Amino acid sequence: MSRSPLPYSRKILELFRNPRNLGRMEDATVSATAGSPACGDMIAFYLKIDENSVITRASFESYGCAANIATASMLTEMVEGKSLEEAWKIGWKDVAEEVGGLPAVKLHCGVLAVGALRRAIREFFRRKGFKPEWMPENETFEEKQALEEEELAKIISRRVKLGEEGK
Ligand code: FES
Repeated sequence: MSRSPLPYSRKILELFRNPRNLGRMEDATVSATAGSPACGDMIAFYLKIDENSVITRASFESYGCAANIATASMLTEMVEGKSLEEAWKIGWKDVAEEVGGLPAVKLHCGVLAVGALRRAIREFFRRKGFKPEWMPENETFEEKQALEEEELAKIISRRVKLGEEGK
């Protein structure tokens, strides 16, 4: 079967080859690991947050595709120097736009990056024991599409079982 290459933007290819802020952050204030139910790939997002709730550093690890690496990399640059509220408000469409657009089949990869960031921010406030008024009570679309490892494992094992039954 022949496969034609996906129409990735130049920016995506550049970030894929040379991602910024890649790697685990040992002294992170908070982190979140999340996986995509669409493809089963995982990402970890790390934030260093100062006493004024400003993100001073962000980094990521990705076990996803080029689109995920590029959007996560872009996101780490976009959130640096931003307050948690400003970072929260960055949606997957903003990130997709910053990387020059995403092929339709790769939109979920950008959603995963934003979802992991939001999960990290939510976790930060959960540990503090309060919820700022700008943070919605219920999980946003992006967070729901960035599942915690256990939830993802359950979905994948359910799919595998269904697949086996269908044999
Ligand atoms: Fe899984 Fe892109 S296909 S993150």
